[in-house]
Amino acid sequence: MKSSLPKPLARISHFERLGYGLFIHWGLYSQIGRGEWIQFHDKIPVNVYAKLASKFTASDFDAPALARLARESGMRYAVLTTRHHEGFSLYDTRGLSSFDAPHSPAKRDLVQEFVEACRMDDIVPFLYHTTLDWGRDSANCSEKKFAEYLDYLNDSVEILCRHYGKIGGLWFDGNWSRPQSDWKEDRLYATIRKYQPEAIIINNTGLNARGAKGHPEIDSTTFEQGLPVAPDRRGWPKYVAGEMCETLNSHWGIGQNDFNFKSPADIIQNLCACRKVGANYLLNVGPTPTGGIPDYEAALLRKVGQWIGRHGNLIYEGKPVPATCPGRDFLLKKGNSYYYFAHDLSRRGDAHVVLQKGGNGPRGVDGFPARIKSVRWLDDDEKGRFTQSPDGSLLTLDCTGYNYGYDMVVRVAELVVA
Ligand code: GLC
Repeated sequence: MKSSLPKPLARISHFERLGYGLFIHWGLYSQIGRGEWIQFHDKIPVNVYAKLASKFTASDFDAPALARLARESGMRYAVLTTRHHEGFSLYDTRGLSSFDAPHSPAKRDLVQEFVEACRMDDIVPFLYHTTLDWGRDSANCSEKKFAEYLDYLNDSVEILCRHYGKIGGLWFDGNWSRPQSDWKEDRLYATIRKYQPEAIIINNTGLNARGAKGHPEIDSTTFEQGLPVAPDRRGWPKYVAGEMCETLNSHWGIGQNDFNFKSPADIIQNLCACRKVGANYLLNVGPTPTGGIPDYEAALLRKVGQWIGRHGNLIYEGKPVPATCPGRDFLLKKGNSYYYFAHDLSRRGDAHVVLQKGGNGPRGVDGFPARIKSVRWLDDDEKGRFTQSPDGSLLTLDCTGYNYGYDMVVRVAELVVA
């Protein structure tokens, strides 16, 4: 039937429950500190750029600390750029190329360290791999050279699939650089399925085609730097998940001159906007030239982790509910309970200490699917007041705002079903 809804494969349901992940953009470009596209923007000749490899020490790359940061920040997966557009690999390319971490002063296979550390901390490791390679001129070379390049790409990915144990998924990026050519995706994805049948396959559709569906093997759409929309999956041959990826400031690779950071409140709201439509949120950090995580970024992520920690596993397990809430508010369902996520509330308290900015009051939900018997705000266990229309579908929740001493940015109430 054309309008039927596809059911997610087990691996895709599992991916959706991971919910929130850490993206890590690290490479030779980190030494320049002006983002991962600096080679392209500054037109740095390939042979000049390649010299950065001789200064790549990875002396502060501490994979266990990275995995711990992800865990303490409430994340359940991490995606490392094993090779970015510059073409330098953080893994041992096993003879394919000498432009890799084992041939640099680091002399280590950093992908190996990453996957092992992730597993120790219950973080599912995902591997980002570029499909665009400036060093090999993949975007502009002849079709003949491009075919050779695709062999190299396929061999590279095969290495990742065969030598690092079970990985959560492969995250590709760059097919948008050569839209006119056949990328032989069938072959690439068959290579992955052969060695990693349960891996999630993602191929970033970029800033200009957010949410676009691609090859049938793709398991999730991407929303790069933009809030995801609720997909209408009726008639889709396969259930495809959604994921938004976003920078902490304005660059993926570290930007020494980039001060435009998001706040914990921004991140909480974006995470909520993703989960509202069932999408994952992949938030990026750009390590230092030597692979350390900058203090400010780590603190920012941990702060958000505290918010997540107050809500148990709701953020991962809660499923979107098709009811209409005002503004940015929304509902998730977990087990038998519904959870209301209230935005833009103000604090209550004495006018000499609390800025009275409104926003509190009754909020109506249309199309509510159950009858409820009680409401409890999760932050301070306050009982909530509500009314429901005779058939239950119109629910009005009295959103009284925050008690003095609280401001959760997004306040969550449990609606207990009668
Ligand atoms: C873009 C950029 C790339 C970045 C990616 C992350 O495609 O080209 O630098 O890694 O987005 O989503």
